[in-house]
Amino acid sequence: MIDSYGRKINYLRVSVTKRCNLNCSYCGACNEKDNTELSAEQIEKIVRAFAKCGITKVRLTGGEPLVRKDICDIAERISKIDGIKKLALTTNGINLKDCAKLLKDAGVTAVNISLDTTDSEQYKSLTGYDGLTKVFDGIAECERVGLSPIRLNAVLIKDKNDIQAESLINIARDRKIDVRFIELMPFSDDGENENLVVRGEDILKQFAFLKPVITAKNDFEKSVARYYEAEGFKGRIGFITPISDKFCSECNRIRLLSDGKVKACLGNDGVIDLMDVIDNEELLTNRVREAILSKPMEHKFTCGYGASHGLNKIGG
Ligand code: 5AD
Repeated sequence: MIDSYGRKINYLRVSVTKRCNLNCSYCGACNEKDNTELSAEQIEKIVRAFAKCGITKVRLTGGEPLVRKDICDIAERISKIDGIKKLALTTNGINLKDCAKLLKDAGVTAVNISLDTTDSEQYKSLTGYDGLTKVFDGIAECERVGLSPIRLNAVLIKDKNDIQAESLINIARDRKIDVRFIELMPFSDDGENENLVVRGEDILKQFAFLKPVITAKNDFEKSVARYYEAEGFKGRIGFITPISDKFCSECNRIRLLSDGKVKACLGNDGVIDLMDVIDNEELLTNRVREAILSKPMEHKFTCGYGASHGLNKIGG
């Protein structure tokens, strides 16, 4: 449906858990105490209501969605809902090798994998876990079972992993995998992190051979990422630039949090709780509509919003 600012909202991100098996500093995950999680059946009910309001694409996120044992059940229930045409998943890749095939069978088609470095020592220091091999095994398994597209999400942090840009880009040179750089958003409790942001355009400057891709903006191609290609590359390079270049007027998404609240904008306070109406289809659908209409015009990351809003609760 169309929101209050004329945007067509058709993309729902569903955070199935706040839990995560990694501990990346910029995400703010750590030791989440409140682990309220919707059941697979509750998630299905809510997504059904969203589908009635025009949602056609769903992405499962977390926390880390693959820490839930019933993730394939959740995926299967969602992919069967009338009106849901596309189901994708964002994961850190640690548990991916064992479940890529099962996820595909459950109706997931596309997978985004978070990967900020190709150096195993650095991976361990960024995430708190020595898991780089597992991630690469997971990526290979996605290729093997035919999940597509496969995308890597990388967050570069100044003087930490910014020298990794080239080796990450080389993955898109060698494999049919898109590599996307996401500008650091201020979610951790570390305080000011504006100085740590590596801007999309600064990365682009270093790789002059990248040429912009003109994408067809149909509903599924519509993306907050701007893509570039290069001769001989099998995959593309994308830039998601919430800090240096707001894309709010293009935003088509809304988020369901793991405790049954809807967050209409990643970079704004304000949630709408669905739990008191979850068992009444009509009231639930009305509440969902209300939530979509509550979506604000734009995010407030550049006005100091963010710190301590932990991305683990929201799913990116
Ligand atoms: N800024 C930008 N991106 C982030 N992600 C997690 N935390 C942040 C942050 N503070 C990314 C993860 C994941 C995606 C959903 O969000 O790398 O790939």
